Amino acid sequence: MSSQPKTLLSGVKPTGRPHIGNYFGAMKQFVDLQAAHKDARKFFMIADYHALNFIQDGAKMHDLIIDLALDYLAIGLDPKQSVIFKQSDVSAHTELAWVFDTITTIPYLERAHAYKDAEAKNKEISVGTFNYPMLMAADILLYDANIVPVGQDQKQHIEYARDTALKFNHIFCGGEKENGGAPLFILPEPLIMKDVATVPGIDGQKMSKSYNNTIPLFATEEEMTKAVMGIVTDSGSGIPKNVYDIHRLFRTEAELAVIYEEHKGKYKALKDALLADLKAFINPLRTRREELAKDKEAVLKILKEGGERARSVAEPKMQEVRKTIGVGLY
Ligand code: ADP
Ligand code: TRP
Repeated sequence: MSSQPKTLLSGVKPTGRPHIGNYFGAMKQFVDLQAAHKDARKFFMIADYHALNFIQDGAKMHDLIIDLALDYLAIGLDPKQSVIFKQSDVSAHTELAWVFDTITTIPYLERAHAYKDAEAKNKEISVGTFNYPMLMAADILLYDANIVPVGQDQKQHIEYARDTALKFNHIFCGGEKENGGAPLFILPEPLIMKDVATVPGIDGQKMSKSYNNTIPLFATEEEMTKAVMGIVTDSGSGIPKNVYDIHRLFRTEAELAVIYEEHKGKYKALKDALLADLKAFINPLRTRREELAKDKEAVLKILKEGGERARSVAEPKMQEVRKTIGVGLY
């Protein structure tokens, strides 16, 4: 297995407009890693079957997939350097998830944070939500991915993928087995950016689509202004913490020290300074996305070709799995 080339894989669910928390917590790393790992195989997935737990409207799903493809391209993911594909184009993902379901116990899945949160809120939980970690393990293990860039909240899911790889290897690839005990799956590692592990929202809680506290990554100027002016400020120290914490994404500590000293106590001026930095960052990204959105056919072509490339890696691996578990007869 050590002769395997380095492989990076990550994914995002197409569930709506990304915000700067998604970007700094996860998506930015995709682009940085694409540049830093020229020789690695890189897969960036649109996790549409994961999103199906939340989006159950065909027309909406269709649009959200294209939106996310545009987001990926606008931030700089490049189909020449990386495989950009959607999960549903590679049926081995759901097939392998089933295999993993059969070696996984209910109590083990009950320990998942996402499941526990849903349960605590007394939500009606679908089987798909419960099994979410198994589909994600399949996403990762099918490609022998050794590096999985994600936000902090996905760390447990990578642990599930590691445990599942170990369990599969133990059950099906033990020493006495036909293949001489060579493990089929490698153990993936999460890659989490430490200093921006959790981006706060305009209310100071974690920025999240579900909390209505976001600054959209491709926001219009009006949206940026509305969000920044809506940042909750209740600091008595002259430094509005929630403004500062978002501003940290765009400036060094030293630069911030100068700005926040100069405008100490003047919250409007500090918000204006943040707004100017946000505009300088977001406006070019939004313009690029608008350009790309003009050619929908080109986007579909990229996805379709990405799906073919992904299948050419995943399908042989799935064939090995079928052989190993004994169902692949010819
Ligand atoms: P949301 O909470 O807005 O629904 P998702 O669950 O779709 O976000 O997360 C998509 C990716 O973005 C994940 O890798 C997640 O870890 C990362 N992410 C989401 N919110 C934040 C945040 N506030 N700070 C850092 N990373 C985040
Ligand atoms: N669960 C991830 C999220 O909500 C998305 C995802 C699906 C993913 N499959 C993946 C991330 C595989 C990394 C690797 O953000």
